[in-house]
Amino acid sequence: MADLSLRPASFWTQANALLRKNVTYQKRNIKTNIRLISFPFILCILLVALQAFINSQLDKPSNNCGCTCRDTTGDGKCEKVCGLEYSDLDQAATCPIPNPPEWPPLLQVPAPEYRAVRTDFIPFTDLPNESCRSLGSCPATFLFTGNNQSLGKILVKNMVSTSLNINTSDAVDSLATGVAGSDTYPQTNNFLDPAFFSGVPIYNVQSQCFPNSTVSVSFLESAIPVQEEVQCVQGFSLWRNSSSEINDELYKGYRKGNPERKINEIVAAYDFLNSNGNRFNVSIWFNSTYKNDSGQTSIGLVRVPRSVNLASNAYIQFLRGPGTKIIFEFVKEMPKPGTKLRLDLSSLLGTLFFTWVILQLFPVILTSLVYEKQQKLRIMMKMHGLGDGPYWMISYAYFLLISFIYMLCFVIFGSVIGLKFFTMNDYSLQFVFYFLYINLQIALAFLAAAMFSNIKTAAVVGYICVFGTGLLGGFLFQFFIQDTSFPRGGIIAMELYPGFALYRGLYEFSQASFTGDFLGTNGMRWGDLSDSVNGMAEVMIIMFVEWFVVIFLAFYVDQVVSSGSGKSPLFFLQIFRKNTSSFRRPSLQRQDSKVFVQMEKPDVLQESEKVEQLLLEPNSSHAIVVDNIKKVYPGRDGNSAKFAVRGLSLALPRGECFGMLGPNGAGKTSFISMMIGLTKPTSGSAYVNGLDIRTQMDGIYTSMGVCPQHDLLWESLTGREHLLFYGRLKNLKGSALTQAVEESLKGVNLFNGGVADKQAGKYSGGMKRRLSVAISLIGDPKVVYMDEPSTGLDPASRNNLWNVVKRAKQDRAIILTTHSMEEAEVLCDRLGIFVDGSLQCIGNPKELKARYGGSYVFTMTTSSDHEQDVEIMVRHLSPNANKIYHISGTQKFELPKQDIRIADVFKAVENAKSRFTVFAWGLADTTLEDVFIKVARGAQAFNVLS
Ligand SMILES: *[C@@H]1O[C@H](CO)[C@@H](O)[C@H](O)[C@H]1NC(C)=O
Ligand SMILES: *[C@@H]1O[C@H](CO)[C@@H](O)[C@H](O)[C@H]1NC(C)=O
Ligand SMILES: *[C@@H]1O[C@H](CO)[C@@H](O)[C@H](O)[C@H]1NC(C)=O
Ligand SMILES: *[C@@H]1O[C@H](CO)[C@@H](O)[C@H](O)[C@H]1NC(C)=O
Ligand SMILES: *[C@@H]1O[C@H](CO)[C@@H](O)[C@H](O)[C@H]1NC(C)=O
Repeated sequence: MADLSLRPASFWTQANALLRKNVTYQKRNIKTNIRLISFPFILCILLVALQAFINSQLDKPSNNCGCTCRDTTGDGKCEKVCGLEYSDLDQAATCPIPNPPEWPPLLQVPAPEYRAVRTDFIPFTDLPNESCRSLGSCPATFLFTGNNQSLGKILVKNMVSTSLNINTSDAVDSLATGVAGSDTYPQTNNFLDPAFFSGVPIYNVQSQCFPNSTVSVSFLESAIPVQEEVQCVQGFSLWRNSSSEINDELYKGYRKGNPERKINEIVAAYDFLNSNGNRFNVSIWFNSTYKNDSGQTSIGLVRVPRSVNLASNAYIQFLRGPGTKIIFEFVKEMPKPGTKLRLDLSSLLGTLFFTWVILQLFPVILTSLVYEKQQKLRIMMKMHGLGDGPYWMISYAYFLLISFIYMLCFVIFGSVIGLKFFTMNDYSLQFVFYFLYINLQIALAFLAAAMFSNIKTAAVVGYICVFGTGLLGGFLFQFFIQDTSFPRGGIIAMELYPGFALYRGLYEFSQASFTGDFLGTNGMRWGDLSDSVNGMAEVMIIMFVEWFVVIFLAFYVDQVVSSGSGKSPLFFLQIFRKNTSSFRRPSLQRQDSKVFVQMEKPDVLQESEKVEQLLLEPNSSHAIVVDNIKKVYPGRDGNSAKFAVRGLSLALPRGECFGMLGPNGAGKTSFISMMIGLTKPTSGSAYVNGLDIRTQMDGIYTSMGVCPQHDLLWESLTGREHLLFYGRLKNLKGSALTQAVEESLKGVNLFNGGVADKQAGKYSGGMKRRLSVAISLIGDPKVVYMDEPSTGLDPASRNNLWNVVKRAKQDRAIILTTHSMEEAEVLCDRLGIFVDGSLQCIGNPKELKARYGGSYVFTMTTSSDHEQDVEIMVRHLSPNANKIYHISGTQKFELPKQDIRIADVFKAVENAKSRFTVFAWGLADTTLEDVFIKVARGAQAFNVLS
């Protein structure tokens, strides 16, 4: 036969088979893929929509420098002119301001209704009466303390002005000589001082106010006309014995959200400490927490310098007399060019969003890997000859391709719709960064997959990682990055967690694009990597190194942990050992087994002698030689060790089908597991085509077929695709492959009616079973294991399947476990009954029946009155008859074959019928089932005794 020349598939053939299978699988999963890829698309579109909304909001006139229409030429035509003078407070920030206006420096004065008055929660009685609040005439209170009260009094007295003289031709200067203040709140910039545009009066703090002391001032500040009322407010200074008293009073008067709460605010407080005539030492309390009504915190420090100037001025007047003054004339912002309000949302939100987008691949890869592991598909592929090398290479390349396409779509799409995050930064830099990260991510998924065996757990953990990493990155890690005092080593340590490394990289990109956009320069370039604050270089190095480490770790863990390879944690050392002792058959350790052998049945003993013979003189006619194999599961949690297989010897020539019968838990599955490399034997070994199952499993896999007890199929692949894949793994190519698949499909009756091209997920249980059998037989494996191949099949399918197996038997050894005696009789050339971990008997079905079943079974049902008569009749037929069953009139006897003739039985029954009523009777030859029950019972009884 040509098939005999079939060599094991090469690395590339296996890789090719897996690749084709994966591609088909992926085509089937197109919906999932579209969903996966559409996630970044949706996110990008969302960002763009938000960005458009923000831009439209920012482009509103209220956010741009104010303009007006002016008829400059006098022809009635309108000309648009823009500038600070036409802007309101919000618009001012975007105007070009070559020459910022000068504003009188103001003091932050509490609004009249908040000014300090006498209340029950403040122990001091020197405050004004509460009645002033309703009149709006409460004084503005200053508090002061220090080591020398009389000096303090002098200083405080110098601070407030006695009267206000406004020189209308120089109003700014006159306000500077008084103590001007406002209860409005300053803005983030002071191009326009809100105090002069809000319609509330400017206060002038004086030692005494006279009625109608309100004056109106107007001044032209850089062409901005200002018209303001100046209202007198009485300045009220109060001595406190210590700074802690001041603290306490300020604290108690603080305005809170609660409207019931009494509020007592003061203007400022001074502690003159140890000041004297030679030394001026002061500390000042000021309120920087003022907020306007919309809750916007503003940079209120612009109102602080005036309070310092007040104290300095008071001190110099104390030293040099009232003629000397330190005039604080005006405050003025620095000039600036016109700007546009711009907010790049993709840079702002991008880091968190894009972290999620990229991390999202992790659970996808992880679950896909765990799926193959959970469904035991990985081991199934391995058992049909797929080596670890091709599996890793193709899986890796495959996920890399998916990640790559995903990222490519993401970046291209983001760029096309114009997200600055992508367009501003150098594309080659982005490419390297993303490429490094997706590689690291795939390696991590491989590593993580080795630790999970349940797809749901893996998915849940995966997604928790995704969201957790994003959130921790955005709300914790980012603060550490921004905090320049945080040690750099700490940040690098955190970046060792790959999620944070990704976050950092994206953060750097977003920062670069944000500032680039804001300043009108460009985003990140390769040259920026040398910048010491740019964390991109360190992130890339970390990711590159981690990728190496993780990929090796993942491969190592996979080799140790994954079922099927069962390698010890130090497996790589065996590579050296293997070469020195390549093919040694263990004939020395056999003495101990003799003791057992003596107790065994002669047929079993004979089999083990045959095995010994075969081991001494290797002979290629036997495909499977099992040499006293044992499996002991170590005792756990106080249970004693469990002997699953207690020494089994078996020799199977080619062309034989060996049936293993045995009650549940007899150790059949343990035996098969050892044979297919899922577990290692505790002692002993087996040779499949001369290869040792302990060390050369990889070689055995190439010529082995397995039909597992539970169907291991890809739900979304068709029957034909399954067979094509496994056929390729078995090195079938071209027309040989198509032919083999076709024959195989026909053989298991899956060819007609388009069944072959239906997805396996839609198959009935029987169809799946037949497909599993077809898979185990494709590519002409020399050894096939079938674990209960016909369970769950209807009689017609079962017969069909049997025919397939019978035909397949010709050139190969098949080990089959079954609970169906019929199946065993039809298919198997030899049977072994396996009880409690050891073979009880072995032989072909006829022999076994003859040996264990040398009797007929006679059954008769009468009324219970005549039971005695029946027994007498039977004893008469055969004195050695043995009653094996008795229940309310029905009795079963075993009649030794040599004692009786069937004709005598009929006669006796006829005779009996004439004497009493016989409801039913029967005579049967022993079946295999009787043999089985007998052997199983006997063995168990023996084991209980021993
Ligand atoms: C307190 O200050 C006043 C005014 O300068 C001075 O005359 C007096 O000696 C000072 N008292 C003390 C105890 O230093
Ligand atoms: C008002 O200010 C102008 C300009 O500084 C000055 O010339 C004039 O003398 C001032 N008038 C008074 C009454 O101080
Ligand atoms: C402050 O000190 C003065 C003099 O030492 C004393 O009379 C007064 O009771 C003190 N006030 C408080 C509130 O302790
Ligand atoms: C200013 O006052 C503080 C607080 O009492 C004190 O620690 C510091 O030495 C004083 N400075 C001078 C120059 O006296
Ligand atoms: C400081 O300003 C805040 C905000 O306007 C206000 O709630 C608080 O009462 C002020 N504190 C004092 C001591 O005036």
